[in-house]
Amino acid sequence: MMTEQVVYLNGQFVPLSQASVSVLDRGFIFGDGIYEVIPVYQRKMFRPQQHLERLTRSLASVGIDNIYSNEQWLQIIANLMEKSEGADLLVYIQVTRGVAKRAHAFPLNTEPTVFIMVNAMSGPSKEMRERGVACVTMQDMRWLHCDIKSTSLLGNVLAAQNAAQHSALETIQFRDGFLTEASSSNVWIVKNQTLLGPQKNNLVLEGIRYGLFEELCAKHEIPFEMRAIAQDEVFSADEVLLSSATKEILPVTLIDSKQVGLGKPGPMYAKLYAIYQEAKV
Ligand code: PDD
Repeated sequence: MMTEQVVYLNGQFVPLSQASVSVLDRGFIFGDGIYEVIPVYQRKMFRPQQHLERLTRSLASVGIDNIYSNEQWLQIIANLMEKSEGADLLVYIQVTRGVAKRAHAFPLNTEPTVFIMVNAMSGPSKEMRERGVACVTMQDMRWLHCDIKSTSLLGNVLAAQNAAQHSALETIQFRDGFLTEASSSNVWIVKNQTLLGPQKNNLVLEGIRYGLFEELCAKHEIPFEMRAIAQDEVFSADEVLLSSATKEILPVTLIDSKQVGLGKPGPMYAKLYAIYQEAKV
């Protein structure tokens, strides 16, 4: 018999079906919360410090208390992982401003709500890796603080739905003619054997893979640059790549039904995928 999934909620480990929060939780009422997604390989978290630093940064930027030290977060996640099966997992952390009478401004003396769940990781299929994936494009309609990993994700949700309606994996977004990111991943292009990503600013979420690629490219002498990337540079790129905790690195071979480069996963993808796999162990 399958045992029920156990999750962490406000200091307790409880079966998923018994984990509930108040309808007055500000995460529910206002989307007033922060989240993180940490990949786990062979039961070991990948770059946990970087994810926890981003969680701390996101919480601080919206004025929600971080009620745990990094050591406490790691201990709670380790305890939850002990109650979870499987080797490759995804840790989802959500912290909201807590439960309070509905009023927009911050409530006084409210404890944040902390929720953590661990699920099996389902990465991209073999076919996606071998053939590449299709994306569509859209104007970025989100707010101006996309650097905060907020649970207020309506803009991302609508962009993702736009992709789904076009049988694409992701929507690549542009603001004022420049590349920002996709619905739930960062976007990279390859030109003259250089890996190019949009510079880190308030218009994109700095994926944990930003730092990872910067390190891996330095180590393997791959030219790497962060700068503003114009829309037409994406369409004329030799390769276009997506990155996220779950996708790792994934080749895009079709954008708005137009072929990217040679229409198949390219050499930069192959190289980055290989060195990513080495970095995981
Ligand atoms: N999404 N940009 C956006 C808008 C994202 O939602 C994500 C990740 C990224 C990549 O960040 P990272 O490399 O740290 O995963 C960039 C996660 C996986 C999610 O929402 O499920």
